[in-house]
Amino acid sequence: MCGIVAAVTQRNIISFLLERIQRLEYRGYDSAGLALINQNNNFIRVRCVGKVNELIKKTKNKKLFGKIGLAHTRWATHGKVSEENTHPHISSNIAIVHNGIIENSFQIRSFLEKKGYIFYSDTDTEVIVHLLHWEQKKTGKSLLEIMHYSLMKLKGNYSMVVMDSKNSSKLIAVCSGSPLIIGLGAGENFIASDQIALLGVTKHFIYLKEGDIAIVKLKKIKIFNQNNCIVQRKIIESDIKYEYIKKGKYKYYMEKEIYEQPKSIRNTLKNRLKDNKTIYFPELGKKETNIFLHLEHIHIVACGTSYHAAMVAKHWFESLANIPCDVEVASEFTSRKLAIRRKSFFVTLSQSGETADTLMALRISKKLGYLGNLTICNMKSSSLVQESDSYLLTKAGVEIGVASTKSFTTQLTVLLMLVAKIVSIKKKEDNIEKKIVKILTVLPYRIEEILKTKKAIQNIAKKLYNTKNMLFLGRNDQYPIAMEGALKLKEIAYIHAEAYPCGELKHGPLALIDKDIPIIIIAPKNSLLEKTKKNIQEICTRGGLIYVFSDEEINLEKNITCLKVPYVEEIIAPISYVIPLQLLAYYIALSKGTNIDQPRNLAKSVTVE
Ligand code: AGP
Repeated sequence: MCGIVAAVTQRNIISFLLERIQRLEYRGYDSAGLALINQNNNFIRVRCVGKVNELIKKTKNKKLFGKIGLAHTRWATHGKVSEENTHPHISSNIAIVHNGIIENSFQIRSFLEKKGYIFYSDTDTEVIVHLLHWEQKKTGKSLLEIMHYSLMKLKGNYSMVVMDSKNSSKLIAVCSGSPLIIGLGAGENFIASDQIALLGVTKHFIYLKEGDIAIVKLKKIKIFNQNNCIVQRKIIESDIKYEYIKKGKYKYYMEKEIYEQPKSIRNTLKNRLKDNKTIYFPELGKKETNIFLHLEHIHIVACGTSYHAAMVAKHWFESLANIPCDVEVASEFTSRKLAIRRKSFFVTLSQSGETADTLMALRISKKLGYLGNLTICNMKSSSLVQESDSYLLTKAGVEIGVASTKSFTTQLTVLLMLVAKIVSIKKKEDNIEKKIVKILTVLPYRIEEILKTKKAIQNIAKKLYNTKNMLFLGRNDQYPIAMEGALKLKEIAYIHAEAYPCGELKHGPLALIDKDIPIIIIAPKNSLLEKTKKNIQEICTRGGLIYVFSDEEINLEKNITCLKVPYVEEIIAPISYVIPLQLLAYYIALSKGTNIDQPRNLAKSVTVE
């Protein structure tokens, strides 16, 4: 959570900081602030509650000037949403922006209070900046010299950037617990939480590693590792184009990302389907092949939307590969005593690769005797990819809307390829890989067709936007899709929604049914449709308000609205059927006028446990 941008340049950087921190709003948008060092070597700080737009308004008529500075957008953890709690925090000559949580902040705070420090905020970040100031005052040393020693006193995550108004030539970046990158400019350098903040000024980045401390000057960068030794880190040339992060003709990023799905699935499949019959993962080698050959169980751990993708994969692993698969929410995996299955392989799933719960689960799994681990992730530079034995990239492209869409369908695409690959390595069934390759080849076209249901969905959305509660029902591999539909609606439209397996309704939730609760039923034409029709009938007879999404016309009673979904092959039906649910949530939220890309209380990557 929280976004950081900092720059040391030869020009006034106020507009740069404002524009670039706005690009990181997806990481948090409770409040925003910036600090510069002016010509007189004094700090100028501007902070506000709310989004970066408020900060832009607040800075507009002030003639601010500074060639070095830092900016922050906050997702509140320690301390309520208020201007006092907004970063940057300052202690005399030191200013800081921070992403993470200091677990022992209370002890350090009371120590510092005894030393006479006055705290103006409730944040753990102010503790860091006063601690740095105290160490500097005590030792008379430079900020860099006291940094390594001071950090040893902190427990928790503390990726941060610090600057010293007595030495305005450099920024100090510390990477611990959340990503921090350095962008290399011409006679100027930058630091940010994500490269998208810096696209347009540079394509060249250094990804700091866990424990790194970097000194960033106009023309020089020096990096110390966690043992305080100077290290060289690789410079990476980004292939992300600035256009990718523009909304273009779309009103919201989420809308753009929904409609981008055929393209992102094509990217995900590119160079991975060979000769119309085999799946090829260049990222995997002999070691993984050997593990796949011997594994007897798969354990997938993820959060939110990624967890729903994992639940679909469980059906695929068990029904197509006959491999037992368990799926668990990461925060539960990390909260219980674990007994692992024989020859089990550990898989994490994440769009960002920075989700703290999932990362923690991976770290715990390494001590438990799994055959190995793999992450399926959208961000190559992420902590999950760095820390996993092996990885597969989803190649969805940058996803900015807080509500995941294209990352979900590309995760499913990779998972289905993985199932096919494992089946073929185990020589379980010759035809499965070929069959899946064939089906995946048509998948982007199927999604294009499904996206054409837009008008019909908009009509349903018009009827439903005032509703307070909604139910989503699905059976088998469509139950996770029902869960995903409900999550989307909660996230962006703030409508209470629950998902149930179709057959479970009669065990209690049927009591909720009345004419005011719309029920979305996902009912593709397959061997289970007859059973689902019985459930539909049960709801009809109790006067429920039913919307069935199906490729068969289902008009059992007059209180049913049927959304005719174009044909799709059974295996990939979960990937297709989520699309109308994404659209439904989107158009309902649009009618309600919520901030779709930045729903209240949320952030895109949840880097706190
Ligand atoms: C989905 O719409 C949410 N924004 C959220 O549930 C998300 O999927 C979850 O936080 C996991 O994120 P990750 O995939 O980046 O790990």
